[in-house]
Amino acid sequence: MSLPIEIALPGQVQADVLALPVTDPVELAGDAARIVEQKLDGRLARLAQTGELKGEAGRALMLHLGGELQAPRLVVAGLGPRDEVGLDSFRTAGAAAARAARSAGGTIAWLLDESLQLSLEDQARGLVEGTILGSYDPGRWKTRREDGRRPFERIVIGTAPNDVLRQEVERAGLVAEAANRARDLANAPPNELTPAALALHAARLAEEHEHLSGGGLGPDEISSLGMGALEAVGRGSANEPRLIVLRHEPPQPARPEVVLGLVGKAITFDSGGLSIKPASSMQDMKGDMSGGAGVIEGIGAVAALGLPVRAVAVVAAAENAVGSTAFRPGDILRSASGKTIEVTNTDAEGRLVLADALWYARREGATHVVDLATLTGAMELALGDLYAGLFANDDEWRDRLLAAAERSGDLLWPFPLHKRYRRYIDSTYADLKNSSELRQGSPALAAEFLHEFAGDGPWAHVDMAGPAFLERSRGDYLDQPGGTGWGVRLIAELATSLS
Ligand code: BES
Ligand code: MN
Ligand code: ZN
Repeated sequence: MSLPIEIALPGQVQADVLALPVTDPVELAGDAARIVEQKLDGRLARLAQTGELKGEAGRALMLHLGGELQAPRLVVAGLGPRDEVGLDSFRTAGAAAARAARSAGGTIAWLLDESLQLSLEDQARGLVEGTILGSYDPGRWKTRREDGRRPFERIVIGTAPNDVLRQEVERAGLVAEAANRARDLANAPPNELTPAALALHAARLAEEHEHLSGGGLGPDEISSLGMGALEAVGRGSANEPRLIVLRHEPPQPARPEVVLGLVGKAITFDSGGLSIKPASSMQDMKGDMSGGAGVIEGIGAVAALGLPVRAVAVVAAAENAVGSTAFRPGDILRSASGKTIEVTNTDAEGRLVLADALWYARREGATHVVDLATLTGAMELALGDLYAGLFANDDEWRDRLLAAAERSGDLLWPFPLHKRYRRYIDSTYADLKNSSELRQGSPALAAEFLHEFAGDGPWAHVDMAGPAFLERSRGDYLDQPGGTGWGVRLIAELATSLS
């Protein structure tokens, strides 16, 4: 279902929509912009003068043409100030144009600007990602569409073709489409997307790719592995838990001694359990499986890109429900690692399922681990919808993740791990408890909890509660409410850095 992406010289492109990125203020400094402006007899400069055309990031203006150019429409999309232009500016321009030309659809052809600091490869990458992420439609469950949307069928990058550029746009397209699939998973309602349904999705993905294998382990296997924490969280729901495992084993790994461990939280619905959530904060908890979705589509992207990196994805999928069989505050659980956990709050369920998943990832040979989880409401309060918080036990691993985050657009900000946080989760009865009665530092306490189960070797924890699932447009290239596919682009970039 991949959108074809082509590269062709601007003069040879036939399109339904021609799209031109411009800075703020509008300069029309690049070769392509000058040619367009010449053919339009200076119309763009006049529109800039009247203030109808602006280069602000996120703005786009569509003009209907009368045969002056090789397309019936021109979209001019803002990049923001020239000295601030980066990958994100191009992603945002890509999405703004996709929105402006939504009713046109068909072929969209982008012009580039060689007068900018950013390389043509990065410009093209940003535009492809932005166009695909920006055309995402969260209304898949509507039976009637009245908004006149027509899908894009082809993206053309209007510049001289070369192999590096071709590879770059192809990669960008694959990764952005994987991110959109992760958004579909997050937006899927919890009555459809059960743990078993997510496992089936993962198994199908494995079938699509030669070097990817795996699927879901059911309740019996979860029990025999001694995963008392995952088992307990899933116990209250008729939709039984799954441990989803995917392996990527390329024929010629660049670093055979490295196995990337990708661990994801996939609570398909988090009611809070017996420590129930207020009604107002419940319906978005269908997105509490976003870490798992990012991990599944992330390793899928690694396979689709053919990266020579060994990886194992371990996703703990369960529904945190209320009922007579549900686990309770006061229960003491035995995790697969052997450590015992006193449950003091059933709403702190993410760290419980991750405890067993982290253990399993190490057992499967993961040398470098990162877990992705919508873990604490406080992290969303702290960082909002833009950054996810990062905790790590290893400086090099943390730096590698931060660098991958910056390139990918899935932004990370570092937070501290410290063993003096550990005392807040000391339990009177068991090895540790799953939450503190204090309202302070909950993301750091959660990270310290996970630290107990992270095993030996580099490990990082990503708390993506803020950017995983939006209540409203972020005002950039993620301009729809709901799932963002957060983590897919980060994982693709991280794996690229290891290849
Ligand atoms: N899934 C939630 C965290 C969350 C909240 C994610 C809002 C996205 C938006 C998690 O399971 C949770 O309930 N965490 C509790 C932990 C507390 C009980 C220690 C929280 O943060 O309130
Ligand atoms: Mn919870
Ligand atoms: Zn949760």
